[in-house]
Amino acid sequence: MKAIKDYVETHKDRFLEELFELIRIPSISSLAEAKDDMAKAAEHIKNALLKAGADHAEVKETTGWPVVYGHKMLNESLPTVLVYGHYDVQPVEPLDLWDSPPFEPEVRDGKIYARGADDDKGQLFMHVKAFELMNAAGTLSCNVKFMIEGEEEIGSPSLKQFCKENKELLKADIILISDTTMIAQDIPSITVGLRGLSYLEVELTGPNRDLHSGLYGGAVGNPANLLAKMIASLTDENNHITIPGFYDDVQEVSESERAEMAKAPFNLEEYKKALDINEVVGEAGYSSNERTGIRPSLDVNGIWSGYTGEGAKTVLPSKANAKISMRLVPNQDSKKIDELFIKHLESIAPEGTRVKVKSLHGGQGYVTPIDFPAYRAASRAIEESFDKTPIPVRSGGSIPIVSDFEEVLGIKSILMGFGLDSDAIHSPNENYPLFNFYKGIETIPLFYKYFVEEMA
Ligand code: BES
Ligand code: MN
Ligand code: MN
Repeated sequence: MKAIKDYVETHKDRFLEELFELIRIPSISSLAEAKDDMAKAAEHIKNALLKAGADHAEVKETTGWPVVYGHKMLNESLPTVLVYGHYDVQPVEPLDLWDSPPFEPEVRDGKIYARGADDDKGQLFMHVKAFELMNAAGTLSCNVKFMIEGEEEIGSPSLKQFCKENKELLKADIILISDTTMIAQDIPSITVGLRGLSYLEVELTGPNRDLHSGLYGGAVGNPANLLAKMIASLTDENNHITIPGFYDDVQEVSESERAEMAKAPFNLEEYKKALDINEVVGEAGYSSNERTGIRPSLDVNGIWSGYTGEGAKTVLPSKANAKISMRLVPNQDSKKIDELFIKHLESIAPEGTRVKVKSLHGGQGYVTPIDFPAYRAASRAIEESFDKTPIPVRSGGSIPIVSDFEEVLGIKSILMGFGLDSDAIHSPNENYPLFNFYKGIETIPLFYKYFVEEMA
């Protein structure tokens, strides 16, 4: 541990500067015009892997954005860890809410501020530096592979196929991922569950053109009014989702497991205060942690119609649109939920309107066991570096490709994330505390050490 800490201390400014170089590349996967930057980011990671000691690294083309693959193979007979991460980031809008430009990283109050500082450039880069550290110290005790993709934030459309085509290359005993959070800097946790996702876009059409709202208002159905009503009807007074069949496959969590989960520290007053809200809203009968961890949810992610520019315009719009996503729990099937959602929206669209619903992306949820070598290794590693036993926590977020890894490659994942809920991922002023960045680099080599022990 002392040797690890010393290495990080000696090289910490360089580690940070190298991360900044990666962050400065605006690799926003949802923008077609980011093509050159996606290639640049992939190339940057490939070179970083080679410099850190990989004996092979390459940028592999896919049907979408490229995947960076690299490895260091010590011996076929040793365990193999496959590190997964993503170099793509979310768009930065609204720009005016950033206190510093999103792709010009800077440190303020001990935190790195930039898009990707946490999600996932900061977190994946900890793995590159931990790998460098183990190579420099000669402590690497197993085979390591890296698969860093560029499409996570758009639903990983090409990665499942990539995995199918590269099964042999990706063979490993465990997939190690840092792309999640822990409870707090002094309350380490390991993510043992991710929610699935169904993401759809709805378009409701009324009259064949925008109308004068005085000449027609009151006499013609307004798609904006009507879509708002349709959306409101998707949840009832208990915040249950009303789509028929929606809960059919939901796995109920046992009372004893709920009691176990409730032991994780959570302060509702602080939670509300951090968000400037005086009340929380969610499914009746469940705590806030249960509402995100073990229960599905439905949210409007975007909604638009009519006139939204400056000032007033009296218009009865022809169309209204919404992007709606549902977070799913393990055992709910995202394709089936898409179908139920589409059928239900078609059935509730009022007379005189037409509704079109299309699925954008989705994926299955995931639960990891806590009684297997990788969990024990992560737990021991964190215990040693944080001086506290980590708590297993089910997260509300999604990394849909994780369940595909198990399905296609037959490999389980361990979610050893070092982010915090307060890192504002996907939001303006995304940040990542230096403490978490360096602590992650210190913890990862211990994971390798204990994983090899646990596998022996
Ligand atoms: N890293 C996040 C997921 C995450 C964050 C899980 C924190 C648990 C804790 C990932 O990059 C992400 O944003 N996933 C998307 C899904 C994707 C299909 C757009 C999400 O959860 O919205
Ligand atoms: Mn991520
Ligand atoms: Mn993300």
